[in-house]
Amino acid sequence: MNLIMKMLAAPATVLALWAVSAQAATNDDIAKRLEPVGQVCVQGKECKGMEVAASAGGGDAKTPDSVIAKHCNACHGTGLLGAPKVGDAAAWGERAKKEGGLDGLLAKAISGINAMPPKGTCADCSDADLKGAIQKMSGLK
Ligand code: HEC
Repeated sequence: MNLIMKMLAAPATVLALWAVSAQAATNDDIAKRLEPVGQVCVQGKECKGMEVAASAGGGDAKTPDSVIAKHCNACHGTGLLGAPKVGDAAAWGERAKKEGGLDGLLAKAISGINAMPPKGTCADCSDADLKGAIQKMSGLK
């Protein structure tokens, strides 16, 4: 009786291991097959992660990119009137230090400062819209 149990147990173990590794291979295959689907882009935009997801809301929902393109870029794109340039992390970092971080910059963007108009001319931008645009232009978190 004991011998028969042993004889049955060994193949059963082998079978169980085989089943586990077969399952793993299958999961890998499935992941590979799903990969292209996970990379589909929305609205024909470039695939760049979050921005794409944010723009999927449709309508005229504001995204950092759309706010910058419509309102901020006129000055911040070229550094017009001494505006800190888009992507110039050093210039933005220095201002952030002076104003006490991102929220300080946001406050100045809302009120305006020197040649910088209140809300950067985006009158219907929410604070969050402006903050998103500042983060995008400055690279600050
Ligand atoms: C008409 C030109 C102009 C436009 C449009 C504009 N800015 Fe500015 N911005 C400036 C200038 C000039 C400065 C630098 C002001 C200074 O420090 O003297 C500035 C500075 C800033 C600062 C730094 C403020 C500080 O305390 O140092 C932030 C933040 C900012 N802009 C955000 C924005 C955002 C967001 C937009 C778009 C929604 C925008 N700006 C649109 C001209 C502009």
